Amino acid sequence: MRTRFAVTKVSALIALTLAIAVAVGSGSAQAQAVGDAKRGEDAYARLCAGCHAIDENRIGPKHRGVVGRRVGSVDGFNYSDALKRSKLTWDAALLDRWLADPEVAIPGQRMGFRVNAPENRNEIIIYLLKQVAKN
Ligand code: HEC
Repeated sequence: MRTRFAVTKVSALIALTLAIAVAVGSGSAQAQAVGDAKRGEDAYARLCAGCHAIDENRIGPKHRGVVGRRVGSVDGFNYSDALKRSKLTWDAALLDRWLADPEVAIPGQRMGFRVNAPENRNEIIIYLLKQVAKN
């Protein structure tokens, strides 16, 4: 009887500890994602906004809805032939390669800018993922 009680108590304690660990873990993952998106917005303002905007074409094409969009497909933007002809679609992996070195990602392109730090690319991509298309 005594042993059984002790076992139950111990397993209840383990379950509780696990529940707390999971709650704390997912909470901090969420906090980290929110932090990344905020840092991404700042990095975008600092590094990209000289040429790009979310909702209008400037020196570079507008970015709203870029994730999931065919490369070189914003109406009214005059892309390089390399982007016009590309059959690729923007996803996180392609954006990462593009930002690391556009010329390696899509040779013949015209964006003369790189983001060397992987954490900056990451934050910016998380921010771009949130700029979904408006219908
Ligand atoms: C010096 C100006 C300049 C800066 C700074 C710049 N870009 Fe660009 N970007 C361009 C130009 C020009 C193009 C069009 C390239 C082409 O047609 O070959 C482009 C194209 C792109 C495209 C392709 C979009 C599409 O519709 O296919 C993406 C994605 C992109 N830029 C992301 C970024 C991000 C993110 C940043 C900031 C880290 C950034 N760019 C900084 C000039 C710039």
